[in-house]
Amino acid sequence: NPLDFSGVWRFRELLPFAPDDAIVSIGEGQTLCQRADAVAAYTGLNAGRLFLQYEGMNPSGSFKDNGMSAAFTHARVTGATRAACASTGNTSASLAIYCAATQLMRGVIFIGSGKISYGKLSQALEHGALTVQIEGDFDDALRRVQEVSRQLGIYLVNSVNPFRLEGQKTIMFRVLEALNWEVPDWIVVPGGNLGNVSSFAKAFSELVDLGLISRVPRLAVINAGGADTFYQLYEKNGLRWNGGQFDQSKIDGYYAALDANNRKADTLASAIEINRPVNLPKALRAMDRCNGVVRAVPDTDILDAKAKIGAGGLGCEPASAASVAGLRQLVQEKVISPSDSVVCVLTGHVLKDSDETVAYHSADKATFDAKLGKRGVKQVAFANR
Ligand code: F0G
Repeated sequence: NPLDFSGVWRFRELLPFAPDDAIVSIGEGQTLCQRADAVAAYTGLNAGRLFLQYEGMNPSGSFKDNGMSAAFTHARVTGATRAACASTGNTSASLAIYCAATQLMRGVIFIGSGKISYGKLSQALEHGALTVQIEGDFDDALRRVQEVSRQLGIYLVNSVNPFRLEGQKTIMFRVLEALNWEVPDWIVVPGGNLGNVSSFAKAFSELVDLGLISRVPRLAVINAGGADTFYQLYEKNGLRWNGGQFDQSKIDGYYAALDANNRKADTLASAIEINRPVNLPKALRAMDRCNGVVRAVPDTDILDAKAKIGAGGLGCEPASAASVAGLRQLVQEKVISPSDSVVCVLTGHVLKDSDETVAYHSADKATFDAKLGKRGVKQVAFANR
């Protein structure tokens, strides 16, 4: 059965919302969970304790394909002919590739006028999705696309869509499979719209209920310092799930203050440049279920961590490296101990955002000898960091 070759649908008994012949798959989820000793040393973990779940190997180069295949499956069941999203780049790349590969739907993409990497934008254009840039940032784009898709009856594939989150559960199924179903002590994940963290907690919770594992891991969500709503609300303002009776006024007050100060999200990790995470309530529940912590890390730490991950042999984009930067901070704080077993999720491929990478390495101590090579070839000697 071809579905057995999808990293999502070989777990279809755990995603029982569509008949087999409705399932949409383009080979997503063939990803890698790799022991990473060099990166472990950088974070302060003992050798053999850190694993990197590398989701950059997906067809569109990010974890989004796990969820997109599930959303497309559901969309097909509903008979939808158009699908839309707002995106910082990866959701749109994923939507575009699923539209092109399956020819099931026309894709409509809303991007903000802020940062989107050319790698991601080029995917949307190349795969032929209708790409609309709106004035404002991602948070504005998401509001607009929700209105438009409601008015026009377009299927929405942002992570407000619960079927997206069903598909993303399989990232954790594959982690457990790679670890012989031994539950790690920690899962560390970058936090943007907080879809992953919500879906991961749901995955673990359901596996416990089914008796397939005996405990849930702890979750660490890492925001970028310039887009740290979840950190501020959870760690600084003490916002908690509280059995579903969470204090909405804390959230409203926080957003009102952002507006009053005209404070927009701002980070080089453009994928997680989000100030109004749409899955915030679900994420609070996830933190409650998995005894979670939230941290925010500065861009400089993210880029340093990214280079260490690259030097260790796996290339990721800045947002993904927030996980490793956050892990390092949590080990320094002694929240995570060097002997804990930890999985960091690397959410997107290094080629998504090559400008950032080249700029970072150009800042290394370098000697240029412009005289070498008559056709402008330059010799660059990078010093070790
Ligand atoms: N990492 C990458 C590479 C992402 O693209 C995103 C989200 C995240 C992490 C955050 O994941 O939302 O589940 O907390 N990107 C979305 C997009 C917003 O439009 O591509 P989350």
